[in-house]
This record gives sequence, structure tokens and C-alpha cells, in this order.
Amino acid sequence: MEPLSQPSAARYGIIGSGRMARHMGRYFDLLALPYVAWSRRMEQNASVSAGTALATCEIILVLISDGAIEPFIRSHQELLHQKTPIHFSGSLVTPLAQGVHPLSSFAEDVYDLDTYRTIPFICEGGRSSWAEIFPDLPNPHYTIAPHLKPLYHSMAVMAGNFTTLLWNKLFATFEEQLHLPPQIAIPYLKQICHNLQHTQVNAQTGPITRGDRQTIQSNLEALNDDPFREVYAAFVNAVTPDLLKETK
Ligand SMILES: NC(=O)c1ccc[n+]([C@@H]2O[C@H](COP(=O)([O-])OP(=O)(O)OC[C@H]3O[C@@H](n4cnc5c(N)ncnc54)[C@H](OP(=O)(O)O)[C@@H]3O)[C@@H](O)[C@H]2O)c1
Repeated sequence: MEPLSQPSAARYGIIGSGRMARHMGRYFDLLALPYVAWSRRMEQNASVSAGTALATCEIILVLISDGAIEPFIRSHQELLHQKTPIHFSGSLVTPLAQGVHPLSSFAEDVYDLDTYRTIPFICEGGRSSWAEIFPDLPNPHYTIAPHLKPLYHSMAVMAGNFTTLLWNKLFATFEEQLHLPPQIAIPYLKQICHNLQHTQVNAQTGPITRGDRQTIQSNLEALNDDPFREVYAAFVNAVTPDLLKETK
């Protein structure tokens, strides 16, 4: 990021210094779109206020923790003379800022231009259009009614974050209890991703799909002292509730 570089030419102001702010700054850099970056650290370290740093920006992206978005905007009324600020939370709906959610996972390392360009953005219906906010971004974009955002986000969290938790559980169990190198599971992970990409709903295999009560029972017993037993049971319950009744 280049804080305060070419402020007069910057259409965008990015608030925050976390993962999302870093990735968005990187994307703008790759597209050669000027922007101004500001974070509360900058205010602490160099006494630069948000109002001063972002005064010339037309579009303000408030890329901070979900719970801090509304309080931050309320306490920075000087930013509201610009267009309605934009936030990237997948579930928050607020009159103080418009939500535009990038459907991806932004970890510590930044990505390349092709990766950023293909990330779809989900916008809130009835508010500013994509062309008004991001006329220079080539990303696919879709609109849903604001009241459906929590449902949309619950799907993204379950599919993306929960599977990551499950894979981290496998890696840890391999290493600590089974004394297997965790990386030997990577081809399995790749095959699952490939099958999902190419066959989607028909990619499912395993004892739940097969209705294999004996294996499910054995798996649940193996997890008896593990909090993930409830996770396993909840999955069976959600997909085939009758199966679980008879395996208890
Ligand atoms: N990361 C993802 O994969 C992802 C994906 C889609 C959407 N998003 C959205 O992007 C937004 C930012 O998430 P993130 O992943 O970047 O989170 P993060 O890495 O945890 O960073 C959070 C940022 O918020 C700042 N912050 C927290 N409270 C603040 C306050 N009261 N005033 C000012 N700044 C404050 C933090 O500042 P300090 O560093 O000073 O603590 C930090 O810069 C969220 O709305 C999130 O839902 C994230």
C-alpha cells in the first residue's frame, strides 16, 4: 500500500490494515488504480485523521471488523459527506454503509491479478449499482435482496470456514495421534475439490451417502471423547436424520 500517494487522483479510500484491506490495496495496485490507505494505527503513529487522509476520496471502503463498522462510521461523521461508505461484510445490513461482499477467502498472503479478477462480488439490491461503485473492476457481480444476506453468508461460512476447520482437525489428528505426516492428505483434498468442481452434488461419497450404519457407528465410537463427535452426528442428522436414530 502507498498511504497518501497521489491523493488528488485517488477515487478510493481504504480504511483498515487487516487482511481484506491489504488484499484490496494489492488488487488496486495490480490494476494501477490510485487509492488512499488509512488505519487507526496511522492515526496513532502519525496523527493523521481519517477525515484528513480521505478528504479527496469519492468512495470509502470501510474494511474493518464487522462489529466495528457501524460504530466507526457513527464516530466519523466527516466521512458521510461523501457517497455512502462501502463495507465488505457478508452478513451486515445497515443504512450507514452499503455491503459489497467478495466471495472468497483472504488469508495472510496476497494473490495475483487473475485470482482477484475472477472473485465474484455479491451486492445489496436497491442501493448504488456496481458501475457506480467499481466501474473499473472487471469482477463478476450479482445482487441479492438485503434480507437474504444472512442466509447467503451462512452458506459461505459453512462451506468455506467449516471445511477449513475440519481439514485442520484432520491435519492435527494425523500428526498428533496417528503419527502420519499431515501433507499426505493433500492429494485427497485436491481430489475432493476436483470432484466438487466437476460433478458438484454427485461428488459426495462415504458412509452417510451409502447409508452405511455400521461404519457410522464405528466412526462415532472412535470420536467418543472428542468434541468433533457432535459435529459428525450433526452432519448425519442434517443429511439423513433417520439413519442416526438407529445408530445411537
Ligand atoms: N478476510 C476474509 O477472508 C474476508 C472475506 C470477505 C469479507 N471480509 C470482510 O472484510 C472486513 C475486514 O475483515 P478482515 O479479514 O480484514 O479482518 P482482520 O484481518 O481481522 O482486520 C480487521 C481490521 O479492522 C480494524 N479494526 C477493528 N476494530 C476497529 C475499530 N474500532 N476502529 C478502526 N479499525 C478497527 C483492525 O485494526 P487493528 O489492526 O488496528 O486492530 C484491522 O485493521 C470484514 O467486514 C470482513 O467480514 C473478509
